[in-house]
Amino acid sequence: MKLLKRPRRLRQSDTIREMVAETRYHPSQLILPVFVKEGKGLKEPLQNLPSAFTFSIDKLIEHLKNVEPLGIRSVVLFGVSDKRDANGSEALNPDGVIPKTIKEIRSQLPNFFISTDIALDPYTDHGHDGLYKDGKILNDESVEVLCKMSELHAKAGAQNVSPSDMMDGRIQAIREHLDTKSLEETTIMSYTAKYASCMYGPFRDALGAAPVSHKKTYQMDPRNRREALKELHLDLEEGADIVMVKPASLYLDIISDFKKESHVPVAAYQVSGECALLELGASQNLFDRKRAILESIHSIRRAGADLILTYFAEDLAKWCGESNAKQ
Ligand code: PBG
Repeated sequence: MKLLKRPRRLRQSDTIREMVAETRYHPSQLILPVFVKEGKGLKEPLQNLPSAFTFSIDKLIEHLKNVEPLGIRSVVLFGVSDKRDANGSEALNPDGVIPKTIKEIRSQLPNFFISTDIALDPYTDHGHDGLYKDGKILNDESVEVLCKMSELHAKAGAQNVSPSDMMDGRIQAIREHLDTKSLEETTIMSYTAKYASCMYGPFRDALGAAPVSHKKTYQMDPRNRREALKELHLDLEEGADIVMVKPASLYLDIISDFKKESHVPVAAYQVSGECALLELGASQNLFDRKRAILESIHSIRRAGADLILTYFAEDLAKWCGESNAKQ
């Protein structure tokens, strides 16, 4: 056969495949999500997701000291609490587990970039991310609480706040609130397109709360793509520093749209259910665990994510120096 073009020429060896690989990742692009609760000496794996843990503060510090040499420098904190009420008042407790954790990380691990989740669901008895009354979410009242929560975390030393609540107008309100408190240096990573996904199961188990009813009046409908662009443009106008798509693997089109439509970094959250699926498949020998995780991460990167929140951050950082062409 006389063929001028033979794409296989560039696939002949590990070396050439590595040379022409279009997509890579680096540990500095990984954000490690962790759960923290009161107590001592606790490091509890999540049900169905053994790579993710709920820590007490002492054990979290130990863990972060272990992953720091792998190049992981970025963590997002989720509170776990049994102090729940209708207003989620624990979210504003200056001595709550998150402000304490932030201070401890800042004093012991000065190179870490700390993000915190801004939403009320760890602290509300109804399990919603905002205030909820008579079967309805109170949007604007919720935003006021989220502003104060952001201030509390930023004052404790968090460099980044990450609102996951999907209330309308919260990015602008949080930005203005932080600025009036002289916290203009705190960045906002917005959960811009957060879908009402079934993939949050293991996370909600860790928090010990499924919401009453559902979150579909604020999280997005999985059938919608253009609507994500509406959310994107709002968040950019409102001052988001980083925009996020969540979940990641089932929403690669949205990641790709965000990359094309914006000039800010795009983050993607490989959520608990996505990670648990890969663990379960691997444990049933449906596929190789490492290859599956690498393929999922490269797909998310290929779609356009600059930053990835993933429970596999530690594994990925360990594998990073290896030749991926061999996998
Ligand atoms: C809610 C929040 C959720 C996740 C992050 N922040 C769950 C939800 O919306 O119910 C899910 C993350 C995961 O599944 O790993 N504040």
